[in-house]
Amino acid sequence: MAESIKANITAVGHYLPEDVLTNKDLEEMVDTNDEWIRTRTGISERRILKDPDKASAYMGIEAAREVLRDRNIDPLEIEAIIVATATPDYLFPATACLVQREIGAFNAFCFDLMAACSGFLYALTTGASFIETGRYKKVLIIGSDKMSSITDYTDRATCILFGDGAGAALLEPSEDDCGVIDWVHHSSGIGAEYLVQEAGGSRNPASAETVEQKKHYIYQDGKAVFKKATEGMADVSREIMDRNNLSDDDISWLVPHQANLRIIDATAKRMGLSSERVMINIDKYGNTTTATIPLCLYDWKHKLKKGDNLILAAFGGGFTWGAVYLKWGIES
Ligand code: UT7
Repeated sequence: MAESIKANITAVGHYLPEDVLTNKDLEEMVDTNDEWIRTRTGISERRILKDPDKASAYMGIEAAREVLRDRNIDPLEIEAIIVATATPDYLFPATACLVQREIGAFNAFCFDLMAACSGFLYALTTGASFIETGRYKKVLIIGSDKMSSITDYTDRATCILFGDGAGAALLEPSEDDCGVIDWVHHSSGIGAEYLVQEAGGSRNPASAETVEQKKHYIYQDGKAVFKKATEGMADVSREIMDRNNLSDDDISWLVPHQANLRIIDATAKRMGLSSERVMINIDKYGNTTTATIPLCLYDWKHKLKKGDNLILAAFGGGFTWGAVYLKWGIES
């Protein structure tokens, strides 16, 4: 039987806006304080894309350009672009098409994927599946979110959490045993009402009332989401370890979605990992939704060694959650 094809991450890129919104800045805006935010979430600051003419596509384009430079390939070699985002520039056309136009990847087919904070993992496994068929050789996946565009900066329960940013990765057929080995995804629409942007879609199109009622902003029942996210991320990470017979010693890094440091800690504990093997950058960027995981990979790329076993895990609106077992395939 022919060897099955694996999808390898062969380059990563990123974009972070320059403007920093600190906890101190937020103290001036809402009734909160640095100590509460740090102890309850682990966040100290986040980046904000202030330019009103720039949004998720712009950040995705910058991240994609870094991938193309790093891998030194012509954009015309890209065969598919998948953008995971909860904050597309428009409901349509797809943000992926806007990225394609700007980077000149005119041989690619392009679409957006909406799975909230799990979006990057879903894009990774969708892109990996295209590679595994043998039909595609270069798939660009991007997670990009301008969360500040849907954040109510008078709501202290949510405005402290989110930041803007993008990350991208190129998937190519693996030439060895590195790449995406396995994944588990779950969803539960039962969670739809707990984390939602109610207006702007076909259910509640934009109107004076929807604006007045602040329905274009994120609504989150923090406590309910926290409970489910903690269980979901820990359970699915354990599930992928067990079905691949991985012990804690086998895992080089946990790459967790950065929503709350307490959720990350609970996941690491369930996996038996000490904090030295957990990627954490929530302190600097907050929750950038689809960008958290690729931003971790980017920040740690010089520490990663070829063959490292990574478990990527996420939980988000929907509810959606999942974990990916990936053997890092870039030579350090
Ligand atoms: O990425 C997608 C998935 N999202 C998540 O995973 C987020 C999950 N949820 C969370 O991370 C947490 O629920 C939050 C960080 C959002 C909130 O933390 P919490 O420990 O669940 O706090 P809480 O909502 O239970 O609120 C505790 C208290 C309340 O006061 P009382 O009722 O006890 O007097 C809140 O009003 O903290 C108050 N509070 C704040 N105080 C200062 C809420 N927000 C703030 C704030 N500053 N920003």
